[in-house]
Amino acid sequence: MKFSSIAIDGPSGAGKSSLAKNLAKKLGFVYLDTGALYRAVGLYVCEKNIGGSETAKIEKCIDNAVNNIDKIDIELTYTDGTQKVFLNGHDISEKIRENHISKYASDVSKIPKVREFLLRTQRESADRNNVVMDGRDIGTVILPDADVKIFLTASLEKRAKRRYDELLEKGYKDLNYDKILKEITERDEQDSNRSAAPLKPAQDAVILDNSDCESPDGTLERALKIIKEKLPYVCIR
Ligand code: DC
Repeated sequence: MKFSSIAIDGPSGAGKSSLAKNLAKKLGFVYLDTGALYRAVGLYVCEKNIGGSETAKIEKCIDNAVNNIDKIDIELTYTDGTQKVFLNGHDISEKIRENHISKYASDVSKIPKVREFLLRTQRESADRNNVVMDGRDIGTVILPDADVKIFLTASLEKRAKRRYDELLEKGYKDLNYDKILKEITERDEQDSNRSAAPLKPAQDAVILDNSDCESPDGTLERALKIIKEKLPYVCIR
């Protein structure tokens, strides 16, 4: 059986995960948040007291996992639209969203061995299900034959403001917009300029700039239009 796949790539804060989640619901597809996989590896490394720039030590962790000397088992579950992420059986859903883990995730994602380690999980998911996957290299590396590729982006300022509002809603205090803007700028640079699978639109991706969308619904509507053109037979709930 041939399954359909939708790749959503783009920079931090563009709203990829909201869009991918909403699309999966509308289409009845499985959602795979690939950023959560890198975040889980980032947390694993952090908890081993290894720095994000200690590449040799991080590679050793991966070798140990591959050779069954250690375990890095990552599991993503969904219940009623809520995602949970487990690392070696422990619920790490909250921890991986902390700010310092975002930086760790970006650091480990530069390492080809880490990317190779996570590649199989991602491809297997697409081999067995209709999927919506969001990340940085889904359309370029993981699923080069994806049926629909969307590169979701927005201005830096909009993305920083959305991140600010999201953290405010979560109850974070003493937020500083300029600091968030700086962090997002740095992550963009690191994700786009690394040699392993840098963030860039696939040649056949449709660019969707949602800077002018005030809510996720506007982005969803535009994405559905793109999908209907590429997959006219798909059933929308
Ligand atoms: O989407 P996110 O912010 O949760 O991703 C965390 C980090 O993981 C991000 O800085 C880049 C990296 N990442 C990646 O390199 N490739 C992916 N497919 C997904 C995420």
